[in-house]
Amino acid sequence: MTAFVVPYSGVSNRLGSSEIEAVVDALRQDTLAMGPLGRRFEQRFATYLGVRHAQATSSCTTALFLAAQILGLGEGDEVITTPQTFWVTPWPLQTRGCRIRFADIDPDSLNIDPACVERLVGPRTRSIWVVHHGGQAVDMDPIMDIARRHGLSVVEDCAHAPGACYKGRRVGTIGDIGCFSFHSLKNMTTGEGGALVTDDDELAEQARALGTIHTWGRMVERAEKRIGPHTLPAYYRDAHTRSAFDKDFADGRYAVGNNYRMSEVAAALGLAQLDKLDALNERRREIAHRLDEGLAAIPGISVQRERRHSPHIHHLYTLFYDPDVVGAPKDDFLRLLQEVERIEIVLRYFPLHLLPEFRALGHGYGECPVAEETYFRRQVQLPIYAHLTDDQITHMIGAVRRSVATLQGTR
Ligand SMILES: Cc1ncc(COP(=O)(O)O)c(C=O)c1O
Repeated sequence: MTAFVVPYSGVSNRLGSSEIEAVVDALRQDTLAMGPLGRRFEQRFATYLGVRHAQATSSCTTALFLAAQILGLGEGDEVITTPQTFWVTPWPLQTRGCRIRFADIDPDSLNIDPACVERLVGPRTRSIWVVHHGGQAVDMDPIMDIARRHGLSVVEDCAHAPGACYKGRRVGTIGDIGCFSFHSLKNMTTGEGGALVTDDDELAEQARALGTIHTWGRMVERAEKRIGPHTLPAYYRDAHTRSAFDKDFADGRYAVGNNYRMSEVAAALGLAQLDKLDALNERRREIAHRLDEGLAAIPGISVQRERRHSPHIHHLYTLFYDPDVVGAPKDDFLRLLQEVERIEIVLRYFPLHLLPEFRALGHGYGECPVAEETYFRRQVQLPIYAHLTDDQITHMIGAVRRSVATLQGTR
């Protein structure tokens, strides 16, 4: 089989000399963990977003775990989220015993539909977890209105949307907590990495405490300074001020929290990528506009509508296929794109409520009809990354046109 003309690249943008120099400088530091670069990255990311606190994490997954923990969500609590997301969005909630309620989506933005959220709010609802799908902001005003009226917290999963705005505010800063991903595929990357952001001082303090391993509780002087035949060692205290082994716990315990930290090397990469983030997002918008223009006139194909208040930063490029107009199912179209036109297709996301794990909990087909209809019949994604070439963009437009014509010719 020939190589793909448009592969699904494993990296969102080609790294250049600024990233390489930043990483090499980090490697020369006296420490590769918990050093100055992590803190600098946090400050710069918070300033960029316009939020009081940012905490760098090892991934968006760990940021979401922290979010669930610091909001105290657990057994018996219901959380409303979207079925059109990567399965890790609700994963921290499941592990903590929450009940997931899936609200259906808007068929064009693929974002959670606030009207469907409202219908699911009940006496046990505690939180709403939205996802800015593909890089276009969720309609946050009605979500925040529902949250305020019912006393719910709001978490924004911004894995696809670093730098995206809603009515002039960066996403991640509108709800109580925003969680970001800097995975290799994301609009800006640190290889693996993430961040939790919040304006709430108390939540930030808890996140800071729980994102790293430490001791907790009131300590008292150990009555007996010997351990068996041994004296307590002399030189450990300065390095371990938080875990003074010459003390006992009156209450509390060792090892609270977790290691969710970002390394210095990742933070160095993040600082260099942050400098480019707006330009990287702009490049994605340019590519998307070219695809939109080229695809819009093809029968049976439509493109996403950009909301006036939320410029789309196209982590994903989504188009919609109409099987009734073309006269063939979507899978036939995808097969032509992948096997004949050599475009590597990855579809995001299989509706979560239909995964075996959720079916076992009583979720099933029919629960989110818009998400189901859209995913199975209409939704298509083409590869998008900053280093797509003009020839690849032109190829994708031609490929869609040829594939539709082929399917219409064979009806
Ligand atoms: C919507 C969404 N949330 C969370 C994540 C998890 O991000 P990470 O890989 O940084 O843990 C992803 C990853 O693709 C995602 O797409």
